[in-house]
Amino acid sequence: MKERAVLTPELFRKLLDWYEENKRVLPWREDADPYHVWISEIMLQQTRVETVKAYYLRWMERFPTVSALAAAEEDEVLKAWEGLGYYSRARNLHKAAKIIENAYGGKLPADKALLRGLPGVGEYTAGAILSIAFGIGEPAVDGNVLRVISRLTADPSDVSKGEVRAALADALRPLMPKGETSAFTQALFELGALICLPKDAFRCELCPLVEDCRAYKEGRQGDFPVKPEKAAPRAEARTVLLLECEGKYLVRKRPSKGLLANLYEFPNAEGKLSEGDVCAFLSDLAGEEISPRKVESLPEATHVFTHLVWNMTGYLVRLSSPKAASLFGADAVFASPREIKETYSLPSAFSAYKKFAR
Ligand code: ADE
Repeated sequence: MKERAVLTPELFRKLLDWYEENKRVLPWREDADPYHVWISEIMLQQTRVETVKAYYLRWMERFPTVSALAAAEEDEVLKAWEGLGYYSRARNLHKAAKIIENAYGGKLPADKALLRGLPGVGEYTAGAILSIAFGIGEPAVDGNVLRVISRLTADPSDVSKGEVRAALADALRPLMPKGETSAFTQALFELGALICLPKDAFRCELCPLVEDCRAYKEGRQGDFPVKPEKAAPRAEARTVLLLECEGKYLVRKRPSKGLLANLYEFPNAEGKLSEGDVCAFLSDLAGEEISPRKVESLPEATHVFTHLVWNMTGYLVRLSSPKAASLFGADAVFASPREIKETYSLPSAFSAYKKFAR
């Protein structure tokens, strides 16, 4: 006998009723402007709602329209993104804004193929923009949605596979009610964010769909979604140097490709250098020209990227002459603590050391 379908219009009706009663007030929910939806959805990838709120509001003050974003300098855009991580998201937003401005008159297109052609817009983001801003029945399948649906259906498929996500989108598409596509998409996010929480944090006693949930019936909520184990990130030792001269600190721009591309950094080198190594490193670089007046050891710090961990050692090196800047590259400058705060975009990887640049 065929099992009864779990994903039915009746189930989504219950979900939509629950959403109307329980949805959070969030800044990007105040209207359905496609630009607002796009920016918030990109920020919300890999980042918590509570963190995104402040970034989103600041962003809209600085870049209130696609045109304003398209006209900005990349450094300004990266500065507004500072601390959110995954900086390619910001670089792609900027590139896409220029395309929208030039090719589509500053308006996001209500068309899946055109949206998918923009840098940084994948299936998920296109679905979110189409369903939330344009009322088009295109699903947006993110981690929350995968968790909710794979539990409801006790689906053992590996959700890290593209074809599994695509099949799920195909299953949801015909269930999206006309005129309610925005609520449909956001209700799934909301259930995943408030009730159907990851790992063992699920709150099934509050779930409007508990009677329909196969994982709940089987007591196996924690088994879904099924994903392969992630490889542990590679660990790398690094030494970070705060080179101080006359109250300013040396920062330099990172290369335009690779990790943290085009962001600023304190000079740093691979390996765990001792105080003696640091002095030797500086004198190899410039001989007498930058002999340090004083070298102080700073606390160790760790930063976890997606596939990499930096185990950092730091030193505060007081220099008597600012001549050193050019030795660290054409973009290296001595910046005041205020400029470091307001102008140069230093990623969170350097947060532990930024506080010593004061
Ligand atoms: N997560 C992803 N998109 C979201 C949205 N629009 N609202 C709340 N959480 C989300």
